[in-house]
Amino acid sequence: MSAEPASGTPVAPPRRLSFHVFRHDPANPDAAPHFERFELDEAPGMTLFIALNEIREQLDPSLAFDFVCRAGICGSCGMVVNGRPGLACRTLTKDLPADITLAPLPTFKLIADLSVDTGTFMRGMSERLETWVHEIGAEADLTRIEAAMDPDLADRIYELDRCIECGCCVAACGTARMRPDFVGAVGLNKIARFALDPRDGRSDADFYELVGNDDGVFGCMTLLGCHDVCPKQLPLQTQIAFLRRKMVKAGVS
Ligand code: SF4
Ligand code: F3S
Ligand code: FES
Repeated sequence: MSAEPASGTPVAPPRRLSFHVFRHDPANPDAAPHFERFELDEAPGMTLFIALNEIREQLDPSLAFDFVCRAGICGSCGMVVNGRPGLACRTLTKDLPADITLAPLPTFKLIADLSVDTGTFMRGMSERLETWVHEIGAEADLTRIEAAMDPDLADRIYELDRCIECGCCVAACGTARMRPDFVGAVGLNKIARFALDPRDGRSDADFYELVGNDDGVFGCMTLLGCHDVCPKQLPLQTQIAFLRRKMVKAGVS
């Protein structure tokens, strides 16, 4: 039955949303992974962030999930929403069916329920790939580091720097499931970014040393799940192709 507001215009009742939420506490040896169902009325502008907070406040204070910024910036709220990795804070319930299944990102270590440890992976990947500007040969480099950068090139680098390390690309990647040391599209994107940067003194051969292997660009099977799910719409397909060309230029194919 529709509610009648004072104006007499019928207003549809809110949708009843049914959330099937993965629950597990790996620290508890007696706990078994399972899904639990919660129901909520949908509200205008409701995101999964808002819905999960309502569930925690009104239905189950023990539900674990991660959020910091609520604005698609910190990368901490990645989860699998109806089978697809995405950011909970940027996902509107109105864009989903009434039945919503939420699961933690695979590949990463489960902390509890929807909360995973992406930090250990990101840190390990960053250290292995040395994702910082390398200065080589102090004197010559000062000129290079201080030189004005072409604005178009600066834009291309800035575009790749928009990665928020949410882990969605890794969770969507079949290679990452099979190879625990695969650097993922997030790692390949970072190397493409530093390979573009004229302030970085590393050569193509240096980049080859880092990603010219099966845990790097040669492990990528061009499955492109990464490109499809990246919430920042980074051009991951283009970056992977760019790195392959770099490898060929460095004499490797
Ligand atoms: Fe997330 Fe995209 Fe960065 Fe992958 S490349 S970590 S999906 S922002
Ligand atoms: Fe994985 Fe993306 Fe390559 S999904 S296999 S990194 S194209
Ligand atoms: Fe920061 Fe979602 S809470 S990206």
